[in-house]
Amino acid sequence: MRDKIIETILDSKDEFISGEELSKKLGISRAAIWKHMKALKEEGYNIESVNRKGYRLIEDPEDLLTYQNISHKLETKIMGNNIVHFETIDSTNDYAKKVASQEPEGTVIISEEQTKGKGRIGRQWHSKSKEGIWMSIILKPNMIPQKAPFITLIAGASIAKVLNDLGVQANIKWPNDIIINNKKVAGILTELSAEIDRINYIILGIGINVKTMEFSQEISEIATSLYKEGHKISRVDIIRKILKEFENLYLQYINKELKEEALDICRQHSAIIGKDVYLIKGEEKELVKCLDMNQAGNLVVRTKDNIIKEIMSGEVSIRGVKGYV
Ligand code: BTN
Repeated sequence: MRDKIIETILDSKDEFISGEELSKKLGISRAAIWKHMKALKEEGYNIESVNRKGYRLIEDPEDLLTYQNISHKLETKIMGNNIVHFETIDSTNDYAKKVASQEPEGTVIISEEQTKGKGRIGRQWHSKSKEGIWMSIILKPNMIPQKAPFITLIAGASIAKVLNDLGVQANIKWPNDIIINNKKVAGILTELSAEIDRINYIILGIGINVKTMEFSQEISEIATSLYKEGHKISRVDIIRKILKEFENLYLQYINKELKEEALDICRQHSAIIGKDVYLIKGEEKELVKCLDMNQAGNLVVRTKDNIIKEIMSGEVSIRGVKGYV
């Protein structure tokens, strides 16, 4: 009933819809409608009720990342059922870790701004207000910790697929960067809390530069945004689509151990397969040719001495021979 009420008031756009009309349409009493409206307001829906006119939903400006905006037309079973939205926060990953044990799987923590956004290897992640998508998804898969790294690949595959479906030529720089025109547009930071044989929770942090037009000097050569590349796409739309795509690939993996679809997307949109790249580990730098990604999601490379080896994600960083990729 709750969902039917939301649908009905969202469909009537800016118009008021009277309690009587709603009660006829939905087959419940006006008192019941009133109770539902009260509960929805408490949930964060911005519902205006005016005597003799009825109810109407005041939509947030299209692109604010509120529960109201994202949940309307969100076609998922679990991802985004619960969305915690902030104007500003230190880091959505850090907040997600604090609340992970109380919140259900699929909870999305999202903020318009992060004051201490975190990247991989202790780096900073620039997260200015309303310029991008800074979100963390709480996951609680029932599996051994060794299987967790593949979830980063699933997230990368989802982002790349959604962007390509939206007409953006985005590629994956294994394992966790999304690239447009040889520059980084998005990154993934997966954090794990686990016992030896089971996962407590995974925090999947996703950062996508959407509207940023100027980057600080240290990253201006290697970073870009969707707007900067000429793609003016709504943040809300991107989030809904990513949650749906991610859920599809994630459920295949955790329920049926199916990896093929995610691997295919990663291979098809790889920014590095077939290329020479540097593997960087601390001070060491080794030139290799990327051959493929294997079934485990590890990178298969050929060294200068013609040795074929497998690289696990988390072990190394990758740099292109001429630049970032
Ligand atoms: C990287 O490429 O180094 C990973 C970047 C991950 C950034 C996201 S933004 C939302 C979430 N919260 C954080 O503090 N970091 C991740």
